Amino acid sequence: MRKKIVAGNWKMNNTISEGEKLTAEIVNMVKDEVKSDVTVILCPPYIHLSTVVKHTTDIANIHVAAQNCSQYDSGAYTGEVSAKMLASIGVSHVLIGHSERREYFNETNEELAEKINQALANDLTPVFCCGEPLDIREEDEQFDYVTEQISDSLFHLSKENFEKVVIAYEPIWAIGTGKTATAEQAQEMHAKIRAHVASKYGKEVANATSILYGGSAKPSNAPELFAKADVDGGLIGGASLKSRDFVDIIKSF
Ligand code: PGA
Repeated sequence: MRKKIVAGNWKMNNTISEGEKLTAEIVNMVKDEVKSDVTVILCPPYIHLSTVVKHTTDIANIHVAAQNCSQYDSGAYTGEVSAKMLASIGVSHVLIGHSERREYFNETNEELAEKINQALANDLTPVFCCGEPLDIREEDEQFDYVTEQISDSLFHLSKENFEKVVIAYEPIWAIGTGKTATAEQAQEMHAKIRAHVASKYGKEVANATSILYGGSAKPSNAPELFAKADVDGGLIGGASLKSRDFVDIIKSF
């Protein structure tokens, strides 16, 4: 059985005190209200990671992710943070290839393959983000586009390493726009992704791979999205900044 996962991507939001308040609210609500086996992942900016780890270590189903890591091991890379450093403070997951990093920081599929290697070499679970821009969807080329992102950044992995990866499908036209993909559009893409994984690693691996949906997910649409056969949870941006909304999304399975 593959894992159900809801991850909250804070992006570049919250001061340290705002982050502590949000974490405390989420922790309390998760303890009181979440009875299911959902894995919750908080993805705050780097400066929050130690604090969020400290506040969540006792809660088995809450994990902490960085939003990025360096493709390099260590050395003269001013401003960068390595996967090894993240692991050393108790971070367990890392987002790799979010569309904002691809778009604004020019991250390429090849560079992302390096980041994936760094994450895995340091026992971090990569949450690999993929998704097409609007013009690609309008030309109906989204399936080739997304499967290529996956092949280029992940298909060099051994089966054993691929099994550790979580995939997040986030159509760029749905991120922060209020325009969610329909549950049918999400399911269609998730099924294509799973078939693509099966073509390389076999059905068993594909069936065990968690594939999350991201893009304007909120409490009102999460139940319909999560009910789809190949949607194993969500990567939540805007709605993860409000504890009530985020926890309601976690409870949407
Ligand atoms: P959104 O962002 O939920 O605000 O659309 C999702 C994401 O970028 O991870």
